[in-house]
Amino acid sequence: MEKMSLQDINVDNKTVLVRFDYNVPMDEEGRITDDTRLRESLPTLKYLMSKGAKIVIVSHLGRPGGKIVEKLRLDPVARELEGLLGVPIKKINSCIGPEAEAAVAALEPGQILLLENVRFYPEEEKNDREFARKLAGLAEIYVNDAFGAAHRAHASISAIAEFLPAVAGFLLEKEISIMGKALNNPERPFLAVLGGAKVADKIGVISNLLNKVDTLLIGGGMAYTFLRAQGLEVGKSIVEESKIELAAELIAKAKQNGVEFILPEDVVVAKEFKEDAEHKVVPVTAIPADWMGLDIGPKTAEKFRQKIINSSTVIWNGPMGVFEMDAFARGTQAVAEALTNVQGTTIVGGGDSAAAVEQMGMAERITHISTGGGASLEFLEGKDLPGVVALSDK
Ligand code: 3PG
Repeated sequence: MEKMSLQDINVDNKTVLVRFDYNVPMDEEGRITDDTRLRESLPTLKYLMSKGAKIVIVSHLGRPGGKIVEKLRLDPVARELEGLLGVPIKKINSCIGPEAEAAVAALEPGQILLLENVRFYPEEEKNDREFARKLAGLAEIYVNDAFGAAHRAHASISAIAEFLPAVAGFLLEKEISIMGKALNNPERPFLAVLGGAKVADKIGVISNLLNKVDTLLIGGGMAYTFLRAQGLEVGKSIVEESKIELAAELIAKAKQNGVEFILPEDVVVAKEFKEDAEHKVVPVTAIPADWMGLDIGPKTAEKFRQKIINSSTVIWNGPMGVFEMDAFARGTQAVAEALTNVQGTTIVGGGDSAAAVEQMGMAERITHISTGGGASLEFLEGKDLPGVVALSDK
């Protein structure tokens, strides 16, 4: 990356403002149910601590819409981070103003201050320059390590970089470099497996990947729109009528680019969208009119497995079926398992597929699981991320 990173700047004893994406899932009692994003921020935090930097953390949580929402305060994040780092962390209820200034002034080298949820300020999502200038005024260096939010042109991600030397943290750097290499200079064969409910969400990704990959496997709910585009009847399976033509165009583009484009040949169909619904395996040419496809079938799973394990670079985004329900989780399990048997680089896009891999206990055996949902999709679409664009050039 031609952007500056933490290694390129002297942070010794400096006051450093770090933007993380601590938008973590919480239960009703405010307990953090997945601390991946916190753990992934530790390398940057430990490095800054070891350099005696005075560390000021800024993050968003949820979508409070520019107002204070009690449930979305960052106090639980502070407690969890204290546990992970084994040091006390001061948390305040604001991001700018006298309280923040005093708290920063009181920091000793290596100490950490966590500011309040930055989305409590309406200026954040407006990418407000004046607000960004005030935030920047708290520190001497800005580090962006919030890959998950790098696709948002917000004040603490974009505008702030105008006012301070702005460098990438270790997580942002890792995400961009692993996914960037896969997209631009992959070991071949290069395969992508895409799933998820909607074609609409993945059009940009499919279109961009058709210029890059050797093989594209399609599963999940969106497969039925592609099957319809091939003239098949898919019963009550989800189909985006308005995207059928586009699906046909994407299939044509694959052919033109010499990309092997593989759709399911069999699927698991059910009578209802329910865990214990009556279900069976059928070929895609024989989906009964009043049944719906909820997973790829065993023949497809085996074909996908073969293709995946014979590839050197694999990107996976989106489940193959309704994996939250046991009866329709096999396709997603098969893909996850196949990824762990690849001799090469395996990348799982954030969101549902990342959750599936974690749930199945296979995370350790994947090269890279992105911490970004929307951000990793936009990256795979080939879009520039505002949080990366804003960083200082080398
Ligand atoms: C995410 O979880 O994808 C990021 O934190 C961005 O959140 P947002 O979609 O509310 O901007």
